[in-house]
Formats: sequence, C-alpha cells, structure tokens
Amino acid sequence: MKSLAVIILAAGIGKRLRSKKAKVLHTLAGEPMIRYVVRKAISLAPLKIVVIIGNQAEEVKACISESPKISFVKQKDLLGTANAVQQAEKSLSGFNGTVLILSGDVPLVKEGSLRFLLRDHSERGNDLTFITTVITDPSGYGRVLRDAYSRIIRVIEERDATEEERKIREINTGIYAAEKEFLFRSLKGVKRENVQSEYYITDVIEIAVRGKKRVGAVSAENPVEVMGINTRKELADAERYLRGKKLNDLMLNGVTIIDPSNTYIGPSVSIGRDSIIYPNTFLEGVTSIGEDCVIYPNVRIIDSRLGDGVVVKDSCLIAKGEIGNRATIGPFAQLRPESVIKKGAKIGNFVEVKKSSVGEGSKAMHLSYIGDATIGKGVNIGAGTITCNYDGFSKYPTVIEDEVFVGSDTQFIAPVRIGKGAVIAAGSTITMDVPKDALAMSRVDQVNRKGWALKRKLRVQSSELKVKKRKG
Ligand code: UD1
Ligand code: CA
Repeated sequence: MKSLAVIILAAGIGKRLRSKKAKVLHTLAGEPMIRYVVRKAISLAPLKIVVIIGNQAEEVKACISESPKISFVKQKDLLGTANAVQQAEKSLSGFNGTVLILSGDVPLVKEGSLRFLLRDHSERGNDLTFITTVITDPSGYGRVLRDAYSRIIRVIEERDATEEERKIREINTGIYAAEKEFLFRSLKGVKRENVQSEYYITDVIEIAVRGKKRVGAVSAENPVEVMGINTRKELADAERYLRGKKLNDLMLNGVTIIDPSNTYIGPSVSIGRDSIIYPNTFLEGVTSIGEDCVIYPNVRIIDSRLGDGVVVKDSCLIAKGEIGNRATIGPFAQLRPESVIKKGAKIGNFVEVKKSSVGEGSKAMHLSYIGDATIGKGVNIGAGTITCNYDGFSKYPTVIEDEVFVGSDTQFIAPVRIGKGAVIAAGSTITMDVPKDALAMSRVDQVNRKGWALKRKLRVQSSELKVKKRKG
C-alpha cells in the first residue's frame, strides 16, 4: 500500500446544533467528538495528520494530545468542505501517496472500515474511493447518483437535489480516499454553484468521473458507525449507541449490569469479572474496577482505581480515588481527588475524604471530614471527627499512626500528629501532638448538681399554676 496522510475536517461551527460551542467539541461519553476521529486516524499509522480548524480553533487544538505527526491548519473563511481540504495542501507538500479525508463530525467510524476503504482503493488502483451506506431515512445527507450500470455519476447535496433524487437512500458518508496529486489538482476545478454557495468536496467525485478517472465506492457495514452528527438528536443517538456497545462488551466479559438502559459507563472504563453494577451509576474517565465489586445505585466514579471485592454503597461520589481490595465506601460518602483508601478500610455515611490516605482496615463510619490526613492501619475514627486542615490561608496535615482510637466528635487542629496506639477521648479538641500509647483528653470537667433538674421542674410548674389562677 502507498504512503498515507489523513486530513480531518473540523473547522465548522455546526449551525444545526444551535450551540455556542464548536461542533467537534461536543462530547460523546464524556469525550470531545474530535478525539474519537483523531484516535481512528492515529490507529492507521499515517505519515501525517492535518487537522483543519476554524471555529474555536484554540480549544479544538487543546483537546488533541500533541504528536509530531499532527499539524493544524486554520481555515480563515468557512467556504465549504472543498475549501477546507485545500488548506492542507501546503502541509502535505513533501508528501506523495494516498490522502484519507475524515470528518470531525463522523466520530463512530470503525478502524476496520477505514482499512477496508484504503485496501479497496489501492487494490483497484483508484484515484478516488469513498464510503457510502444505504439508510432508511437519508435526510440531510448527500445522495449518491449512479447510472444504469450502477456506476457512480456524482453526489448531490440534499438542498440541491430534485424531489426524485431525494428518494435515493444511498448516502455519502463524507469519508474519502484519494490520490494526493489528483485530489489537489481537482480541487482547483471546484466551483461554488449550489444553493449554499459553498465549495463542496463532493464535486471532486463528478470531476473525477468526467475526467475518466477511476472512482469507486465501498459500503459501510453498519450505517450507525458512519452517521454524521449535526443535531442534538443525532448526538444523543450516537451517545446511546456507544453506551450500548460498551455495556454489551462488559456483559460479554462477565460483568452483571442490572439495568443497561439506566447505566452510564464511559469508553475508558474497565470492570473485572463478577462485578455487579446497579442502575443509575455513572462510571467516567479512565476508571478501572476490579473483580467481584458491587456498585450500588446513584454512584458516580470518575478517573479512579478500585481493587477487587470493593463495595460502593448507594449515592457516593468518587473522583481520582484509589480504593484497595475489599474496602467499603458509603452510603452517601464523598471521596474527593487524591484519596487513597487501603485494603479492607471502611468509609461510611456522610464521610468526606480529601487528599488523604486511610490505612488498611481503618474505619471512619459516620459524619466525618478527613482532609490532608495520613491515617495508618487499624485506626478507628469516631462519628463526627473533623480534621481542621485550613486556617483561611493554608492547608495543614494531620497524621494518625496505626491503631489509634479516635473517640466521637473530635477535632484535630492541624498540623498535628497522633502516635501509634494512642486514644483520643470523645469530644476532644486536639491542638498538640499526642505521644504513642497515650490518652489525650481535652474537654471541660463534668459537674453534676444533685436535684437541680427536679427543682427547676417544680419552679416552672408553680409559676404556670399562678398564671392560670390569675386568668380565672
Ligand atoms: C457532508 C457532505 C455530504 C455527506 C455528509 C456526511 C459536503 C458538501 N457534503 O455534508 O455529502 O452526506 O457530510 O456526514 O461535503 N467543515 C470545515 N470547513 C468548512 C465546512 C465544513 O472544516 O468550510 C467541516 C465541518 O466542521 C464538518 C465537516 O467538514 O466536520 C462536514 O461538514 P458539514 O457542514 O457537517 O457537512 P454536511 O452538510 O454534513
Ligand atoms: Ca455533517
């Protein structure tokens, strides 16, 4: 096969989305559309990838990871898809071979289909080959016109088509393979004589046919993968398709999804065998979940790593966390970024953990805030414990060594360090370090006044009696 370069068209605003945001920045399963297309391009190992940008050019550029292969060219005036392709000419000046043209708004196309297109293009020695598909509702797409021998004549845009032509159900997917020399030569002949007054890349097909060049089309196996995303409805359709595919893959690999229509799992999430995912769960970003885990309803986990046998009970939010084997989280817990919960540890209801590590087998079961803390093994954090890590200016650490017992309603005024095996009496405000194995208690001594409560009751009752008598 000849050398390959890829051009990705991503300059458009996407009028039909009615958005302030450029179309290719709209997300699918949490990731901008353009990234899907760039990934497909990279998978084909081309010599070069040229991305044509225009609307929100800087934002589009910023969401693509840098690579020496990828270059960006700005299309000044959005004069149409042919004009967009033309912008890549300079960047490809030293290149000779086949150019693959992809649309930034056709993100679901399969690598296999692109390889099939390139193989067919090269085996037949074509000048131009493109992917078409037959769909039940072709509205919005360019239609493929063929002659009586089924040979391609041209592609006509819906807006320029006659009533008869609009009935054609074979559509252009906007994915083309073309010989470089032929492509840029033909582009010079494209005119803007159409309803939109734009330069259409599709005109190159007609130019090729007229010039007796070799033109071919291959068909996409599954129309869904070549759908163009022009409207919010199509965006939602693509999202649903991607989600369904991901859930199917997971189920095939031994994960139980209780209700697939109400479970949201991103493309970069992995889940081990025999894990169970309850409904209304959102697993996002780069997240891995081990085997035998149970994720109960209303949980959102982002960019996190969970070991095996982890249980996340109802209604938890976990971001950038790391959770060891057999740990239990929730219900109603929040793990904010950089929280590490080690093997067998338990984080219970209404506990918030931030940038802290909780050691093996340690427990914080109720109503606590643990921030900037390092907690050792086998520690018990009583209900209502708070690490006071912030003085309005800076954050300070709390260190609690192994096997410390923290009584309920304790405040640690950080920075503070609690030595191994120490006991903190309930209700204490800890402002100083506590030595190993010591008891720390900081609360006012209790006073009991005998009979005080009874006397008060009698006093209140007698004054109420007087008021009643007066009113008669
Ligand atoms: C295009 C095809 C149509 C095909 C459909 C498939 C043309 C004229 N029509 O129509 O035959 O059925 O795709 O999805 O090509 N872009 C630029 N610069 C521009 C114009 C567009 O970069 O000046 C980019 C857009 O950002 C988009 C892509 O090119 O990523 C396609 O443009 P779009 O306007 O969506 O074309 P369609 O009307 O969908
Ligand atoms: Ca489109």
